Amino acid sequence: MNLILIGAPGAGKGTQGALLAKRYGVARISTGDLLREAVRAGTPLGRKARSYMDAGELVPDELILDLVREALTDGAAGDESVRRGFILDGFPRTPAQASGLDRLLHEIGRPLDAVVVFEVPDEVLVRRLSGRASCKQCGAVYNVHSEPPRTPGVCDVCGGELVQRGDDDPETVRRRLQVYREQTQPLIARYQASRTPVLIVDGDRPVEEVHSETVRKLET
Ligand code: AP5
Repeated sequence: MNLILIGAPGAGKGTQGALLAKRYGVARISTGDLLREAVRAGTPLGRKARSYMDAGELVPDELILDLVREALTDGAAGDESVRRGFILDGFPRTPAQASGLDRLLHEIGRPLDAVVVFEVPDEVLVRRLSGRASCKQCGAVYNVHSEPPRTPGVCDVCGGELVQRGDDDPETVRRRLQVYREQTQPLIARYQASRTPVLIVDGDRPVEEVHSETVRKLET
């Protein structure tokens, strides 16, 4: 199973990507997570990416393409789940990234099975992002409105501290939504014009319902 997940910030790509990866035993490759890891580790990539991420802008295509190539090829060596399949979460986001991905998948002989698009109204996205909290230690994601932790501020899984993402402040969220509309949403039409099936899923429902609807569409 080789998939791309497309959706606005807060549409549930990470949440659904994790459930799908678990169900199908494949790897979830989130460019956002890889970049945040690079920022935390202070690598040269992290230092270059940080200012773009803080401003809600896209990180330059060439840096992202290198990152994905590494995740699907060299970095995947020894990772059985990547060999079984991959779920690309938050990539591609521009026409140049989509063309780069086409070339890479052709080169490594791994065609896409489907593109899944999660649709969620803007006002729901803004509310979700204002309530998101993630664990500093294990990365588990919560939402104070819909998926609260048992103890406020504490991770149910590992007891770590829950923090808000730096780019979830209202002003940066507005910019991220605008960037999505301008640069990423047009990719949906591009994939609809290709041979890869595009599955549109209503993401404005409880997490489990979105997951079952996605699985139903993938398996029919
Ligand atoms: P990235 O980390 O990819 O952020 P994003 O696309 O803005 O998406 P989010 O992670 O905010 O949301 P999501 O759709 O994963 O939703 P989630 O499941 O967490 O990218 C961050 C930055 O990195 C970018 O701005 C850019 O700078 C850079 N970047 C990354 N990739 C790049 C690329 N390819 N090119 C260039 N730059 C790149 O859910 C959100 C919240 O809602 C959570 O609290 C969750 O619990 C809750 N929730 C989820 N589903 C539901 C539901 N069904 N009902 C109620 N609540 C729900």
